[in-house]
Amino acid sequence: MSGIESVLKETRRFPPAASFVEHATVPGREAYNVLCDKAVNDYEGFWGELARELLHWQKPFSRVLDSSQAPFFRWFDDGELNASYNCIDRHLPHKANKTAIIFEADDGQVEHISYQQLHDRVARFANGLLSLGIGRGDRVVIYMPMVPDAVVAMQACARIGAIHSVVFGGFSAGAVRDRVQDAGAKAVITANEGLRGGKSVPLKATVDDALADAACPTVQHVIVLQRTPAQPAWQPGRDLWWHELTQGQADHCPPVAMNAEDPLFILYTSGSTGKPKGIQHSTAGYLLGALNSYRWIFDAKENDVFWCTADVGWITGHSYVAYGPLAFGATQIIFEGVPTYPDAGRFWQMIERHKVSIFYTAPTAIRSLIKLGAKLPQQYDLSSLRLLGSVGEPINPEAWMWYYEVVGGSRCPIVDTWWQTETGSHMIAPMPGSLDIKPGSCTLPLPGILADIVDEAGAPVEPGKGGFLVIKKPFPSLVRTIWNDPDRFKKTYFPDEFNGEYYLAGDSANRDEDGYFWILGRVDDVLNVSGHRLGTMEIESSLVANPLVAEAAVVGKPHDIKGEAVVAFVVLKDARPEGEEARRIAAELKNWVAHEIGKIAQPDEIRFGDNLPKTRSGKIMRRLLRAIAKGEAITQDVSTLENPQILDQLQQTQ
Ligand code: WT7
Repeated sequence: MSGIESVLKETRRFPPAASFVEHATVPGREAYNVLCDKAVNDYEGFWGELARELLHWQKPFSRVLDSSQAPFFRWFDDGELNASYNCIDRHLPHKANKTAIIFEADDGQVEHISYQQLHDRVARFANGLLSLGIGRGDRVVIYMPMVPDAVVAMQACARIGAIHSVVFGGFSAGAVRDRVQDAGAKAVITANEGLRGGKSVPLKATVDDALADAACPTVQHVIVLQRTPAQPAWQPGRDLWWHELTQGQADHCPPVAMNAEDPLFILYTSGSTGKPKGIQHSTAGYLLGALNSYRWIFDAKENDVFWCTADVGWITGHSYVAYGPLAFGATQIIFEGVPTYPDAGRFWQMIERHKVSIFYTAPTAIRSLIKLGAKLPQQYDLSSLRLLGSVGEPINPEAWMWYYEVVGGSRCPIVDTWWQTETGSHMIAPMPGSLDIKPGSCTLPLPGILADIVDEAGAPVEPGKGGFLVIKKPFPSLVRTIWNDPDRFKKTYFPDEFNGEYYLAGDSANRDEDGYFWILGRVDDVLNVSGHRLGTMEIESSLVANPLVAEAAVVGKPHDIKGEAVVAFVVLKDARPEGEEARRIAAELKNWVAHEIGKIAQPDEIRFGDNLPKTRSGKIMRRLLRAIAKGEAITQDVSTLENPQILDQLQQTQ
């Protein structure tokens, strides 16, 4: 890890305003320290108390943490509860008419959904699922546009104990097929079409593709929301309209008492091998993490209007759209469209229109909006904002300052939240009423999260030195296992090198003299494109699946909006193409990857070689490819290279 040293020297710091601290959920540094000390001194007592206070239990638990099967930790494991009850029903006695969801459609139409209405919609759809024989433990894949019905579908699954697996609506048929197969899904919930930026997205047709040729024999039902007038191809007996399924269903559906450790959902994420990992989250621990972090990090108040711009296809859309804010009883925005349609002022216009008080988005969106109109926010009244958030990748200080000054009017703290699909909820992020913030740092761990930075041997490193980011004790919202692959779970996250004790996040980080964490990036073969993880192996496997391709290696290069862009080095089965032919094949391969995985994984650049730079033992030297992709001169040692002349060839661009 000696190569990982921060070059960032950021000295600006911003303390919370006294008026913010005064009303903060956790006011002042001392209050934060007290919580941290409490967690360290009585770890199980700390989490047990939060779980009892924040969740409604149908059967109380008697034991907080069971480590006997480590690293397969169990939390609150003799307790019973229902996640949907916790997100909806328990608010009904005192806020049935409070708005749960403000939905703004792609075309600007607005719909307000109260907690009572949300309850009724969830209950009717849950009854529909039950009528199809879907129930406890069954897997259901959700492939939907960003509409309230997506949340209704997730909540309905939770209500009846079915395990949902949401697949991002931008993924292709191949990605849907892999996930449906791995999860053994009994049903797929989709829409005829989605609407984004004035264009329709043929979701049902993609599902048809995914399920074609009897590829997914476990799927008995495809439930289709009618979002547009379009009539998709139909397979009688398998396909069912959402509105027909729910017609005449009762708006009451008893929430099933689930064991605390029953899986709430699976969400697939990329890893360093070709196969995505089915991250399995628990019912109680996950929900506790989502709700508690929503409360602490967003300093949540009863009258907030919260807007997290993430799609439900990602973990952020699970924890901070479908579960956390609802478990709190908040009012939140769901937005179907894109930030640039009809113009780049859409986000700012929506903040003004709905009086958003907390806005949570990704650095990639911030950077692209700066580029499209750095002055645009000034044309809108953004005075309703009181807190801003960032997630997905390190935010560069320039983007941070713009977000702080131009969007937040130098008035709103920014919570830079470091966490992962696997951690389920925020891990390192400022309690906004407790900590000074610094542009580019996610600051300090939440109370109860024992994060540290260690070397290869698991020993803590000094401040300023890079190392592996680890969490030294299990916490409630941590991934429980990889679906169908417990060995991979153990090897990936609790490797023997660290005695099998520490959760290994796969990121490198360092800490400054105040103990603040600065995330440096991934240590494995994982890219972060627009705040989403892509495994290089996954893209390589898709490239070599093309009949023209013999070999491929994928690396990242810095990109000013996406953070990282995908660059592929490809060896064809035929001779290395040049000129027009090379451009044509490169375009074909880019489309191929978009079709196999999704547009998000599409390489920005493809370079052809007669071979790839390999060591004598046949290992591809990726650090050289990374340097080439960045256009850097190769100063590294190439003496172990079998075929050094290949570097000249790969440095040529078309
Ligand atoms: C990876 C997790 C967590 C939801 C979105 C992505 C990177 C995430 C930050 C941040 C620096 C960050 C890490 C992490 N990351 N948030 N605030 N600062 N890096 O979820 O797809 O599971 O990716 O995203 O590299 O490991 P994910």
